[in-house]
Amino acid sequence: MYSYKKLETIIQQCSRCPLSQSRNQPVMGRGNMKPGIMLVAEAPGAQEDLQGVPFVGPAGRVLDILLASAGLTRQDVYITNIIKCRPPGNRDPKPEEQNACLPFLRAETTLLKPPVIVCLGRIAAQKLIDPNFKITKQHGTWVQRKGYWMTAVYHPSAILRDPSRLEETKKDFQSIIQKLKEIEESKFPL
Ligand code: URA
Repeated sequence: MYSYKKLETIIQQCSRCPLSQSRNQPVMGRGNMKPGIMLVAEAPGAQEDLQGVPFVGPAGRVLDILLASAGLTRQDVYITNIIKCRPPGNRDPKPEEQNACLPFLRAETTLLKPPVIVCLGRIAAQKLIDPNFKITKQHGTWVQRKGYWMTAVYHPSAILRDPSRLEETKKDFQSIIQKLKEIEESKFPL
């Protein structure tokens, strides 16, 4: 396995799918390099494509509210996306684009080894947890895969569209903090 720096260089130069033609720049993950929690969203939007940083647009403000409600800041978590380049017009990423980009997410996961992975929204949950994942019914539920605890919550953009989802998503973030605590306590039982 290569270093994070090398991964960053590979992603910056990537032309594995046609999104490399339309992007301004790929958007690499950001945040804590030894995170308890890795948040995986869908794809960069317009602002992210311009600035090269995840969640700097309107959805980012909702994400900050959710993190703060759980006593977290962006420096406490690592935030990344299933695909690193913006799909034109913010359409859903195509399966072939997701598959082309997935090795990068795998590399990020292997390098950072977060005990908890949180999918932000349906696209990430269906790619990482279950292709039939129903975010309305299954958000906040937990599965353990290959040593990682995984859950999914509403995407911050979905909360912007329907603010009534904010409170239940704050509860899901409480359950994320609780899970992290349980994992820590099981490592150091005394
Ligand atoms: N929405 C996403 O899914 N990812 C981002 O980085 C920003 C908005």
